[in-house]
Amino acid sequence: MMLPDATEGDATDGNAADGDATSGNAADGDAAREQAVEAALGALGLDDKARLLAGQDLWSLPALPAIGLASLVMSDGPIGVRGRRWTADDPSIALPSPTALAASWDPELARRAGRLLAQEAHRKGVHVLLAPTVNLHRSPLGGRHFEAYSEDPLLTGAIGTGYVRGVQDGGVGVTVKHFTANDAETERFTVDNRIAPRPLRELYLAPFEAIVKDAGPWGVMAAYNSVNGTTMTENTALNEGVLRGEWGFDGVLVSDWLAARSTVGGIRGGLDLAMPGPLTVYGEALAAAVRAGEVDESLVDAAARRVLRLAARVGLLAGAPPAVAAADRPAPVDGPALAREIARRSFVLLRNEVRGAAPVLPLDAPGTVALIGAAARDARILGGGSAQVFPDHVVSPLDGLRAALPAGTLRYALGADPGEELGAAGAGFALRATARDAAGRELGGERLPGGQLQWLGDLPDGVGFDELHTVETHGTFVPRVGGEHRFGTRGVGGLRLTVAGRVLFDGAGRFSPPDEKADPFEAFFGLPSEHGTVRLAAGEPVEVSLVHTVPKELQLPIQAVSFALLHGEPERDPEELIAEAVEAARTADTAIVVVGTTDRVESEGFDRTDLRLPGRQDDLVTRVAAANPRTVVVVNSGAPVELPWRDEVAAVLLAWFPGQEGGAALADVLLGRAEPGGRLPTTWPAVLSDAPVSAVSPSADGVLAYDEGLFVGYRGWDRCSAGPAYPFGHGLGYTQWEYEELSATATSAVVRLRNTGPRPGREVVQLYVSPPDDGVARPPRWLAAFASVEAAPGTSVQVTLPLSPRTFQVWNPYPNGAGEWHTIPGTYTLHTGGPAASLPLGAPLTVAAG
Ligand code: BGC
Repeated sequence: MMLPDATEGDATDGNAADGDATSGNAADGDAAREQAVEAALGALGLDDKARLLAGQDLWSLPALPAIGLASLVMSDGPIGVRGRRWTADDPSIALPSPTALAASWDPELARRAGRLLAQEAHRKGVHVLLAPTVNLHRSPLGGRHFEAYSEDPLLTGAIGTGYVRGVQDGGVGVTVKHFTANDAETERFTVDNRIAPRPLRELYLAPFEAIVKDAGPWGVMAAYNSVNGTTMTENTALNEGVLRGEWGFDGVLVSDWLAARSTVGGIRGGLDLAMPGPLTVYGEALAAAVRAGEVDESLVDAAARRVLRLAARVGLLAGAPPAVAAADRPAPVDGPALAREIARRSFVLLRNEVRGAAPVLPLDAPGTVALIGAAARDARILGGGSAQVFPDHVVSPLDGLRAALPAGTLRYALGADPGEELGAAGAGFALRATARDAAGRELGGERLPGGQLQWLGDLPDGVGFDELHTVETHGTFVPRVGGEHRFGTRGVGGLRLTVAGRVLFDGAGRFSPPDEKADPFEAFFGLPSEHGTVRLAAGEPVEVSLVHTVPKELQLPIQAVSFALLHGEPERDPEELIAEAVEAARTADTAIVVVGTTDRVESEGFDRTDLRLPGRQDDLVTRVAAANPRTVVVVNSGAPVELPWRDEVAAVLLAWFPGQEGGAALADVLLGRAEPGGRLPTTWPAVLSDAPVSAVSPSADGVLAYDEGLFVGYRGWDRCSAGPAYPFGHGLGYTQWEYEELSATATSAVVRLRNTGPRPGREVVQLYVSPPDDGVARPPRWLAAFASVEAAPGTSVQVTLPLSPRTFQVWNPYPNGAGEWHTIPGTYTLHTGGPAASLPLGAPLTVAAG
């Protein structure tokens, strides 16, 4: 990772998160901890050691009171700490999504995010956060694109390093995931990603290597997929050979949830921990394998030692000093304030045209504003799947702008509904779940965050799975608009749906038959079904109830209850909706349209099939832009979408999935109280078909060949004839910069730039390197270093960017599977200078053989 070093002017923000914040004398602490770990290990018999390597439930490990070991609890990650339960009774701070954090290009900001998450983890009794996700944006179709950082390994590694340091500063562990090459979701449990040695080392392993070496993570998570023929939970070469052997990782390797499929394969493959429990391939099965002579007990000892070390680091082993004493934890962080700051720093201003005398943004004098779009009212603040958390409040763009603009100057219009099917009941619903036994006796319950109920492995207090018979989701619904509201369900098992006293459905939920390549839970979650409409009046509460009979006959690896109450607002004529929005835009001084994806587009568990905005949103923008030349489009998505109208609108601001304070941050940036600080961490194509890499589906034999080799992201775009809509690194601010000087030595480069615009500003200095024309297969250029700088109008700032020897190395594979890093000597060219598409300053740099 690159350490910027300020030498002049207003200098840098020091964006490298350097140094570990361990307590007192770290070496003494380590030695004492290792001693306690050895003593604890020595006191354990085979059965207890094997038990310690398997989850006791979905999120935790067993306590072993005899050795003073308390139960270790893990939780997702990465934008918040969900805790054990999927409930509104246990809210979490929701930060912007990982693509947004990476768009800040600021490892120190990532470190601050990590510290907040450690604070959240302590509050929720969580010891290990299942994050960060540092797989690469190989294809824009990757379903969990929003949850990873970038298409570039250097940027991914730097942000991941900052994040891990921050979490561990607070004495909480991480699991850097998913090791490795879990870059898409299609057939994720079985896909075999075939990757040549150079791209494997230079791209996919590189962020993990940087984080292991620079941040010393206490955990790594083994991915579901295979790499080059061996599933990652059994991949001895990568787990033992590379991760532990070459990089010196001394933490725990935990399986992704349900990824461990073989007792012997796992323990020989370097996997320490099989999650979740209680049914796992470790525990009793592992002890039996040792007794049968199939597994050497020393492997179990090594894994148990690492798990005990993790427990000791987070303060769960009596007699072992934790890595961070409670008194040494960082100062408390204001969660909502940090969420808002990260959002502002992440927004990427893609386009900002002059209207009148000045660029349309910031809106110095917005006048009357037409705010348009479903996502303006119902903001999508995070991506779906295990990354989901439940904040106690969400500031939508409508909330944020309404609070910031003078009363009476804002008018809202829906414009287009991107939801193509019913979604989990949300706005207007206040719901509880009540669990009952077969006799109808109440066992327990909790408040729900929305229509989706998800009890996986952990049921509310007082509810035993054996006696559980039904769960009822019930409460009130206050419609925002009048008309024919649509209702439905999702789930397997009995479902009885009643709205305003009318039974809309009483029967069995639909599901697709289990498929051996699918997630084990896919069939269990069921398929959505619409069951009818009820005419309701705006503002008048009605009772809703969905009684679910739990399908006990399903053989699932964990105790699970999942079903959903679905809802859709009355369907309106799409033309009429657009016409209303156009009229609002026509009569306003400024039009702001918020467009976005839905949870059916960006979520864990499946990949995308295209990059189009769902519903009629493209038509909406085109028509609004034709009616108002001061049209600003805000894009609410976690990953690239096609913006076919981008040259017709005055400004485009990418707001990502902005976290709980997104709407407040949006008002700050649109109104010029803060500059949009983000730069694209990934190339945005104009159309999917231009993208150099897009395939995410394995062939019939389950293989996904990474045939493009090193040419991923801008490395691939740079050799394509089609240019992207917006290149990697692109992002405008509210001031201008002139790059004045670039000079370099073998170990560092110095860049001087001047703020030539009217406002103070922040710039991300990006330094790229191009190789000599020497016949070695390499991309036309790659990112070598970066740093954030700030400067007042008219002042210059100079930054020194260290150049790592790795910048000039390639992986040289040997025929036996090993290999080494090899410096390629020659005269390279360094490039810098925004905007990212044109890098006007260049400097030669001669590198000697190393
Ligand atoms: C995801 C992991 C997550 C785990 C636990 C898995 O399906 O791939 O990222 O940490 O579930 O929720």
